[in-house]
Amino acid sequence: MLIKLTDHPKAKPADETKLTFGDLFTDHMLIMEYTEGEGWHDERIVPYGPIELDPAAMILHYGQEVFEGMKAYRAVDGRILLFRPEENFKRLNLSNERLCIPLIDVDKCVEMTKKLVEIEKDWIPSAPDTSLYLRPFIFAVDPHLGVRAGHHYYFMIIASPVGPYYPEGLDPVKIYVETKYVRAVKGGMGFTKTGGNYASSLKAQYEAYEKNYSQVLWLDGVERKYIEEVGTMNVFFKIDGEIITPTLETGSILGGITRKSAIEMLKSWGMPVSERRISIDEVAEAFDNGKLEEVFGTGTAAVISPVGELNWGDKKIMKINNGEIGEISQKLYDSLTAIQWGKAEDTFGWTVEVCK
Ligand code: COI
Repeated sequence: MLIKLTDHPKAKPADETKLTFGDLFTDHMLIMEYTEGEGWHDERIVPYGPIELDPAAMILHYGQEVFEGMKAYRAVDGRILLFRPEENFKRLNLSNERLCIPLIDVDKCVEMTKKLVEIEKDWIPSAPDTSLYLRPFIFAVDPHLGVRAGHHYYFMIIASPVGPYYPEGLDPVKIYVETKYVRAVKGGMGFTKTGGNYASSLKAQYEAYEKNYSQVLWLDGVERKYIEEVGTMNVFFKIDGEIITPTLETGSILGGITRKSAIEMLKSWGMPVSERRISIDEVAEAFDNGKLEEVFGTGTAAVISPVGELNWGDKKIMKINNGEIGEISQKLYDSLTAIQWGKAEDTFGWTVEVCK
């Protein structure tokens, strides 16, 4: 792989405890190209900077794009770790397949990611709750206005030192149950990580902000009844001792890697976890009966995010666990991040060492 290092390294953040999410980028980026008939080629790490795009580039017109989100951590013993990177690239291929984008080689992408992270290792912050967020993405670049799949793509990875996704950090967030707009339907693209899913969520997100809520909770697009996911996270409920998260079988929900890890971890603790359909009525009934014990979101960016309040429009406002973080949410956050920051033994084999 060609590597061209920058002559003008940027200043690193002076105070890591002030890092926000996604505002600052490192010195280098990775690019690989796909050309029909040739496959993926010309992988390279080059100085971070703007790229040139033809105004007719297909991504700008028909949105053929997929992306991932993963993190590199500086472990307490100085090792640099990635968390389940092969899962991200496998999921990228699921998105690719749905959006008619050529598949990538998972192992090669993990290796390229490790190389980029090694080059950028001095950018990985060590303050509590910080990490280096990695954003792999693919988009069609050929100049063409007919509606078809691209013949020429860019795969890129950029890196950003980040703090907590929500300014609330681990303080519970307030979520608005969305009944007007829908995010995805069966047969659509809900299970993929494509920009369009996020573009379609903005309107609801801004209306929720106006009501003083951080995110929306999406309901299914047909009956407007079954819970799907929160804007940037999967969602879990603890009802009368049982942990429930919406099933992925509908194809309208993103299969989160933190979701998967949380399920595996909860099961390893002997906790009952169900992946099934769960309606907003079931949640409201559990709330009325005093059995809605905890609600939390999971995501790479957000890690574990406790939910302190659910607002179901004119039906009901549900204050959960007195607006405080629940026992399971806290334990999951502590246990997952202990593995990610190398503070606890990784008995699941989830971390991949990049370098020391
Ligand atoms: C992530 O959790 O990595 C995400 O991709 C969510 C997001 C910031 C869009």
